[in-house]
Amino acid sequence: MSRIVFNKPSVSGRELESVQKAYMNMHLAGDGPFTCKCQKWLENNLGVKKALLTHSCTAALEMTAILADIQPGDEIIMPSYTFVSTANAFVLRGGVPVFVDIRHDTLNIDEKLIETAITTRTKAIIAVHYAGVGCEMDVIMAIARRHKLLVIEDAAHCVKATYKGKELGSIGHLGALSFHETKNIICGEGGALLINDKRFVDRAEIIWQKGTNRKAFQQGKIDKYTWVDIGSSFLPSEITAAILWAQMQEATRITRKRLDSWQRYHELLEPLEKEGKLRCPIVPRGCEHNAHMYYILLNSLQQRKKVLKKLEKNGVNAVFHYVPLHTSPMGKKCGNLSGQAPITQDISERILRLPLFMGLTARQQRTIAGLLK
Ligand SMILES: Cc1ncc(COP(=O)(O)O)c(C=O)c1O
Repeated sequence: MSRIVFNKPSVSGRELESVQKAYMNMHLAGDGPFTCKCQKWLENNLGVKKALLTHSCTAALEMTAILADIQPGDEIIMPSYTFVSTANAFVLRGGVPVFVDIRHDTLNIDEKLIETAITTRTKAIIAVHYAGVGCEMDVIMAIARRHKLLVIEDAAHCVKATYKGKELGSIGHLGALSFHETKNIICGEGGALLINDKRFVDRAEIIWQKGTNRKAFQQGKIDKYTWVDIGSSFLPSEITAAILWAQMQEATRITRKRLDSWQRYHELLEPLEKEGKLRCPIVPRGCEHNAHMYYILLNSLQQRKKVLKKLEKNGVNAVFHYVPLHTSPMGKKCGNLSGQAPITQDISERILRLPLFMGLTARQQRTIAGLLK
């Protein structure tokens, strides 16, 4: 039996043609025609005021930390159950991540625990939409309004996923997407900063261009460009943007294929869930997910070890994540846990992610479900 890998980068079939065009344009650095097309696509499809392509979601999150004007000691509320970049982006500016437990159904930040984590030092709330399933954004936005806080959406998993009809990443003040090769729409390494609050646009363009007013210069507003703020080289090259553009044009087809596979897992595994052997993902009403991930929750760490071993022995590459950040060496050193995080701890020991990629066959999925039985 041939091996079933965990992920294969999605392919639209138009990438090489697109890269060739970028090369022929002889504009290979960032902020060229392909970058513009991708940014327009994001602005039109996600309904955000401004999108800036970045070389990763990590970079986009780092930009949000600068835009939020995080100063040493400022606190940022976020789930502990997330990828390191959610916290690291703010720690780079001297910020203190304040970790909050997650909900047992969606594995998203428990919005009921946010208000008790707020102090006079709190600057922002980070909503990480796990597996492309939206956090309870109405409640989070209301809390932010009451306490005058920023909401930043870590929408790394979320292209083409919505909450109450709104695209994830377009609801908070700022958002960050990932186009890493493990995501649905990809370009190898890539991401985007999404700006929903107009007051951040001008500064974001300066930060994006190494802290210079290059944009104003290009627009003929000034006669030379210079260093005006902190920033970095956050842009991807046009070659990367060309790959992304090829994928964006096929985003609906790619998502539909993933949704079919997701649904097939759901149906195949339903009997096992009914027997109490595992739990399948829960998608609350009002959330349209994008099939970024199919995970199962097993009954114990021991059971997960056994299942992983069996899958591996039969050539199936399943994986798990995240080590709760409040238990990691850097999380302990730089962050604080608000209250306790029993659900985070429990979920991180029982979760298992199954192979999911464009091109995964029904037969492969039946094999996996058969092994899980
Ligand atoms: C929740 C979350 N945020 C941020 C990132 C970082 O994304 P990137 O690899 O594009 O920097 C990831 C990566 O998987 C993630 O899962």
